[in-house]
Amino acid sequence: MTSSRLLSAVLALRLAAHGQQLRRIVDELRAANPSEAWNYFAIDLGAGVRDADPVFDLFRLSPAVYAPTNPRQPPSQPWFGVMVDGDPRQLAKMEAAFPAEDIAKRVAWIEPHTVVATLEAAAAPLTDRWRTPDVLKMDIDSFDCAVMRAVLRELAPKVVAMEINVKFPPDVSFALLNNRSADRAPFDSERRRFAYGCSLRFQARRLMPPFGYALAHVDWNNAVYVPAHLLGNALRVQRPRESLLQNWSVEVQDRVGYYDRPARSIKFGFNDKPGLKRWRDPTTDHIAEVVRLVNADRRRAGPCNYCLLSALLGRGDGPLRRYCWDADGAFGECGRHHRSTE
Ligand SMILES: *[C@@H]1O[C@H](CO)[C@@H](O)[C@H](O)[C@H]1NC(C)=O
Ligand SMILES: *[C@@H]1O[C@H](CO)[C@@H](O)[C@H](O)[C@H]1NC(C)=O
Repeated sequence: MTSSRLLSAVLALRLAAHGQQLRRIVDELRAANPSEAWNYFAIDLGAGVRDADPVFDLFRLSPAVYAPTNPRQPPSQPWFGVMVDGDPRQLAKMEAAFPAEDIAKRVAWIEPHTVVATLEAAAAPLTDRWRTPDVLKMDIDSFDCAVMRAVLRELAPKVVAMEINVKFPPDVSFALLNNRSADRAPFDSERRRFAYGCSLRFQARRLMPPFGYALAHVDWNNAVYVPAHLLGNALRVQRPRESLLQNWSVEVQDRVGYYDRPARSIKFGFNDKPGLKRWRDPTTDHIAEVVRLVNADRRRAGPCNYCLLSALLGRGDGPLRRYCWDADGAFGECGRHHRSTE
């Protein structure tokens, strides 16, 4: 099969699949890795009840409705876990949506230096195996990759689901970094504009491999990573047409999971702005276009929303450079056009 025919076939299958992706991925991995200690424990960082959250599909499953997709599996237990969100208004919503006591609900700022303590306080009373959850989800629209790195230093989830900033093309590495000295002027993710979270390439090539994880699936702006040995076992027993797990390049995952999907112009029409299209135009310099648009847009980000923050930015797998915002919101290589201190 030519690669474009393969892509069309996969796209058709992907259109047919809707919802429940995370559950099917966990089921596939569990069937291929039965001797692993699975525990039905999930951690949801950025768990506010706003839109479709892949972990909600798991928390909503009661044992009665959870018919495993693999008939060889034993009937499942209900899922339990921890939900954390930074917005205090979300607490009542989380409690209303998931009243079960073994689903802990917490409101806390999710930052690299506090996240593990927040999780321990919420999760340790529920299980002594909270450091090895079956699923960890991260979607905080801010310093997602910096927080993920802090979490993976202490925890070993079997499946990591993470939001991608899909505005960035697959050849650009980008990650927003937090700054503890910026606590006076905290970053408001509701006013985040274009530079938030991290790009697929940064996640899949920089962040996750040192912890042993491989990119296994992209569904719109969500990526799934699993430990490479668990993925390898699943790829050996899978029937490719029925599987949601793939070992494809960042470029192919981006096209199949996001960019080439026909519904993208409807679901992600807000990414079709001319300035953002230039980030993916094959004839432009993508790094220069990112810097140009972030600067052109700075007044819309609001007063000082990014001031004192920085980001890592780089082409492909080449060197990453630190970019800074100054107090006026101007974005450029740190130390070049910028005062590095106030
Ligand atoms: C995925 O493919 C790459 C080569 O493209 C290979 O090095 C790697 O071992 C594969 N990973 C798994 C889990 O099969
Ligand atoms: C954090 O902000 C301070 C200024 O308050 C600056 O000197 C420092 O370089 C920044 N650190 C990072 C990691 O951006």
